[in-house]
Amino acid sequence: MSEEDLQRISDLILRRHKNVKVVALKASAVEGVFRKRRIRILKGEQRTETIHRENGCVFKLDLEKVYFNPKLASERKRVAEKVAAGECVVDMFAGVGTFSILIAKRSPESKVIAIDINPDAIFYLRENIRLNKVSNVSAIQGDVREISEKFAGVADRIIMNLPKESHIFLKDALRMLKNRGIIHFYTIESAYTEDEMRGSLSVAVQRAEQEVESGICACLSAARLRSRCECHFCEESATLRTLHFHSRL
Ligand SMILES: C[S@@+](CC[C@H](N)C(=O)[O-])C[C@H]1O[C@@H](n2cnc3c(N)ncnc32)[C@H](O)[C@@H]1O
Repeated sequence: MSEEDLQRISDLILRRHKNVKVVALKASAVEGVFRKRRIRILKGEQRTETIHRENGCVFKLDLEKVYFNPKLASERKRVAEKVAAGECVVDMFAGVGTFSILIAKRSPESKVIAIDINPDAIFYLRENIRLNKVSNVSAIQGDVREISEKFAGVADRIIMNLPKESHIFLKDALRMLKNRGIIHFYTIESAYTEDEMRGSLSVAVQRAEQEVESGICACLSAARLRSRCECHFCEESATLRTLHFHSRL
């Protein structure tokens, strides 16, 4: 699209929608450990901080400083609805708390441990805990690989929303998971068939079995895992072709 068209469309959006204060464009792909992208402001106020409303929660965030994807709203609701009273949930890659806060709000008796390596994500996560008035989320900044030992064997449910790289962290998830816990494991389908994806998860588990020295993995044969995987396609992210597994281990 030409620069002229971009400016014309931005003007039109601002004129027609009085509630819109900033028109911005994604200026890069999501990249780096923090999974951030560059944003280019086309018209309106010069800011990238905003408030997003979703599933009855509010999320303050800076689009340039943290990862954010509004397309996963119903996926987050679907997962939150599965959480039973009293569960301990570990959100390993929590971002600004989109899964964690919804779960905490829907299930006040649950306990959510929300971890992220990006200090800006944790800053907004703490803001969002306050804005949504939830008291059952603990925000922890750091590399989950260095934190998982502290939470060994505590989680009834783990959310691994780091598609493409989740498998690298599976051994940390298994360390934190209670026996018969559930992992929501997100990955990118790309060119794989469902069976191949199940296979790649099994390989990750086999590697984890070799690496984790605790007894948690003793019961995790790849065959057992395969037989207990449920695959679910995220409808909203058809373009990203995200696939995830619920692994009842
Ligand atoms: C795809 S984003 C998901 C954020 C959030 N779950 C959401 O749906 O909005 C992945 C997040 O993982 C974090 N991350 C990446 N590597 C990490 C690590 N080793 N330990 C903890 N968090 C990490 C990034 O900073 C990023 O916020």
